Amino acid sequence: MPETRVFQDENELVRQLAENIVSEIQSALSRQSRFALVLSGGKTPNKLYALLAEPPFSSQIPWNKIHLFMGDERFVPPDHADSNYCLVRRTLLEKVPLPPSHMHAVPTQTDNPRVSAMEYERELRFFFGGMDYPRFDLILLGVGEDGHTASLFPGTRALEENKSWVAVSEAPQPPRVRLTLTFPALNNARRALFLATGARKSAILKEILHGPLNKYPAQRVRPIDGKLEWWVDSLAHPPRIS
Ligand code: 6PG
Repeated sequence: MPETRVFQDENELVRQLAENIVSEIQSALSRQSRFALVLSGGKTPNKLYALLAEPPFSSQIPWNKIHLFMGDERFVPPDHADSNYCLVRRTLLEKVPLPPSHMHAVPTQTDNPRVSAMEYERELRFFFGGMDYPRFDLILLGVGEDGHTASLFPGTRALEENKSWVAVSEAPQPPRVRLTLTFPALNNARRALFLATGARKSAILKEILHGPLNKYPAQRVRPIDGKLEWWVDSLAHPPRIS
């Protein structure tokens, strides 16, 4: 069962999560030389990224030992308004001294999304040096109202990908062509952490946390040898009337 933490409001959630991420990084770097963090797209994590980009949090993170990855990306140019990378660049990258080569963005400036997926997977395999699957230290994920996560949407072929680390996917709303980490890549993480805030996520959250298993893509993120957590605010997870 995932560990679920409910916070009074979004600001309290992101403040505690920023603290948690800093201490997770510091503790991991006492055992290893680098920290592989996968960032979620969408709007939910924006406040978190903005917090991590400012003191006191930014000055507690040894950015030269951090490697950032995207959990998914829209097949649009990196400066496009719909690009997840563009959002991360504006809210975080432009404010912290992360070495440019440590931002592993999905290469979307190819003429074919399959080429982008292959190139991103090649970069990940190079980073993880021949491992069977990527062992990310922390993966941040969002959830859509249809139960998708990353760009793993209900009813799409990407859900069935069990070998590749990156797949091309189709979204029901534009931009339709997406690149996404697959379940094998997600489920080999040390820690997968979902972020959900706001009343519009309460219905899907109730289904995911208390409904039948494996009905939604987000429910199929279950690290084989890692932690699974949901960090939510009280609007997304209202107290259950007993
Ligand atoms: C994306 C995200 C996607 C997102 C959810 C929630 O590319 O849009 O990766 O999975 O996390 O759709 O989006 P919001 O945070 O905007 O509600």
